[in-house]
Amino acid sequence: MKEVIYEVKGVSKRYGSVVALDGASLKLHAGEVVGLVGDNGAGKSTLVKVLSGAHMPDGGQIELDGKQVSWSSPREALDAGIETLYQDSGLAPHLTVSKNVFLGREITKRGLLGKLGFLDSKAMEEKAHSELERVGIAVPASNRSVSQLSGGQRQAVAIGRAVAWARKVIILDEPTNHLGARQAGEVLQVIKEAKKKGLGVIFISHTLPHVLEVTDRIVVLRLGKVVRDAPTSEFTGDTLVGTITGTIQTIPEEDA
Ligand SMILES: Nc1ncnc2c1ncn2[C@@H]1O[C@H](COP(=O)(O)OP(=O)(O)OP(=O)(O)O)[C@@H](O)[C@H]1O
Ligand SMILES: [Mg+2]
Repeated sequence: MKEVIYEVKGVSKRYGSVVALDGASLKLHAGEVVGLVGDNGAGKSTLVKVLSGAHMPDGGQIELDGKQVSWSSPREALDAGIETLYQDSGLAPHLTVSKNVFLGREITKRGLLGKLGFLDSKAMEEKAHSELERVGIAVPASNRSVSQLSGGQRQAVAIGRAVAWARKVIILDEPTNHLGARQAGEVLQVIKEAKKKGLGVIFISHTLPHVLEVTDRIVVLRLGKVVRDAPTSEFTGDTLVGTITGTIQTIPEEDA
């Protein structure tokens, strides 16, 4: 197995009296796809927000390449090579596809104009198109406004953007939601490509056949705790469902 690139150790997070994460740990290796599953409210999106720098955990540690890190904003995690596609995807509907791909990373023209911060729209359009194509996402003209795209096309742009920019880790929170069978298949293909490139991928989904198809390892969360962390080959559809719902007994990872 390759080296561990990203890791959380015993992270906890409360929202008022709700314990969303209770000492959860997760390791991600280079070139590995980890499935993160659990029922509604299990804490998956909360863990995503901790990993992406959107939320500070109340306790526990985060390590990138074996060094402890503490994100005070999503920008810091982005700059460290960690891309996240949130469950409630963050595209700006009034902007074009290319502006969305470059949101926060706009290409400015060099020289005086650049200093004044003018955007090079043409360069962004071309680059956005080629970046999305490179990661295997076919999107109509990148100068179209995102509000004119179908839900599935928007999702494709959001995924393409994340994969195009990711240098180390990509976190996808329910990326195949609202997608048709063919588009979902394309997303799974993009995940496989990201893995080939040596990125670590965290894939969250309630569609368990997708999880079983594309992941190397599955981490099951229940009520904010990791109740199982095992190679995908050790699960069947039935045992995965049982582990998620709790009908199959697991050895809880109590604070050792
Ligand atoms: N901003 C918030 N304020 C208060 N409680 C929250 C907040 N976000 C999440 N929670 C609570 O934390 C718990 C974990 O929520 P989380 O969104 O992480 O679950 P999830 O596993 O992603 O669920 P789903 O499968 O429905 O997306 C839930 O009990 C939820 O109600
Ligand atoms: Mg969620």
